[in-house]
Amino acid sequence: MSLKIDLNGLFDFNAGNKRGVSERDLLKYNNKAKAAYSHLSELFADKNLRIELSLEWFKLPEQDSKLIKKIQKLGNEIAGKYDSVLFLGIGGSYLGLKAAQDALLSPYYNDFAGARKKRPGIYFEGNNLDPSTLSVLLKNLNPKKTFVVCISKSGETSETKAAFEITLNWLKKGAGKYYGRQVFAITDPNSGTLRKKVKEANCRDALAFRSLPLLEGVGGRFSELNMGLLHLAIVGISIKEVLSGAGAMAKRCMKPDLKQNPALMYALLHTILYREKGMALAVLMPFSEQLKSTADWYIQLLAESTGKKYERKVVFKNGAEKWKNGTKIINAGRTPISSRGTNDLHSIQQNNVEGENNKILTFIKVGRFKNDLVVPDTKDFLAGKRYGALLSVAQEGTEWALTRENRPSCTIAMSEINAYTWGELLFFFEMATAYEGELLNINAFNQPGVESYKNYMYYKLKKPGIKKEIAEEIEANPVIKKQKYML
Ligand code: PA5
Repeated sequence: MSLKIDLNGLFDFNAGNKRGVSERDLLKYNNKAKAAYSHLSELFADKNLRIELSLEWFKLPEQDSKLIKKIQKLGNEIAGKYDSVLFLGIGGSYLGLKAAQDALLSPYYNDFAGARKKRPGIYFEGNNLDPSTLSVLLKNLNPKKTFVVCISKSGETSETKAAFEITLNWLKKGAGKYYGRQVFAITDPNSGTLRKKVKEANCRDALAFRSLPLLEGVGGRFSELNMGLLHLAIVGISIKEVLSGAGAMAKRCMKPDLKQNPALMYALLHTILYREKGMALAVLMPFSEQLKSTADWYIQLLAESTGKKYERKVVFKNGAEKWKNGTKIINAGRTPISSRGTNDLHSIQQNNVEGENNKILTFIKVGRFKNDLVVPDTKDFLAGKRYGALLSVAQEGTEWALTRENRPSCTIAMSEINAYTWGELLFFFEMATAYEGELLNINAFNQPGVESYKNYMYYKLKKPGIKKEIAEEIEANPVIKKQKYML
């Protein structure tokens, strides 16, 4: 067990009565925790329900080892042939890959051959409609030596689609007749424009647009261990290790006893503080530069999963459980903020300590750094100290400063950052988010709020097939722009 979750700072004996959880609070919520556990374990045990309700991510640590070997081999082949790999995708089709890239590979990976260890340079695009980065990138990459991986579960997302079309044109011009052999697509096995493009390209050239299907019932933000595997293989990370870390955490987080189940306890304490004590902001602050992107990944996970307008209504149709929106508007969900120690101790920390007392900090602390440094021997008090040790004291100091002001916090301790512990970390957050969804009684596995801006774009850009009621809603409810307030 290499991940330790220290929740002491969330209790009243540290954070005070007004902002800390008491044993009485725990008792009061005990039945809710039990119900959340039983409901999720029932759902996880039923394949049809897992697929129907988008809970299949729970089974990702158990993926077939033959398939994993195949993906690992494919990644090595691509890495051996190309100088650069360009990944196109957004949201859940990007954040997990970026988190893995930064956590598990050397800092400055793209800048130095020694840091890359003979692996290709890795670039991420299609995660913004700002044209600046893609245009510069394509001017500088060599199309003959670049492999392109397009990831989109739906195959319809505008950001990814636009970047893919531009990149395909660039490849077509620069890489010759068989440019399609430098393209890989990760998308829904049956539906969407991207799948259609794969099928058309396969008809022209069987070796073009190779693809991996996405598993049914795995939502974007829960899919790093599915759609992110080829990326891990290309950069030479052991998928098996990541999955074993995730699997070990899955076991810990399926223990029925609250006191032995870190994800359930984490979710419960945060829900009590949110519901009873107004702690509506969730700051994730890794004390590690390499885990900043993992904190960014968590933003999507928590925000899209728990930020919901409606309460969940569980109904049964032909004996099978289904989830609908209830009639009650609840506008639930804590707001996640991604931060980083010690960098942000010189910015947001002032507000954390003295601003509105409405946030809970979760620190991630790393025990051992692969490339630690020692401050040279001068007369200064820092002399002879390891950076890792300084970072550790800084984290303790941050926790202490918050506790002094009755501000709750907790700490996830990782022995070191490696494929196994990172797999554990990812799965811990996924399980905790699923439990938090249960405790709030919302559907944690859809994202209707993300659809509205997409629908607006589709309507304005005249995408065929836009529903009549969506078009009418957009037309009937314009944003009011008064000239006198345009300054
Ligand atoms: O969590 C989700 O499902 C979304 O945020 C998606 O990841 C995001 O919108 C990208 O979608 P797609 O993979 O279909 O291009």
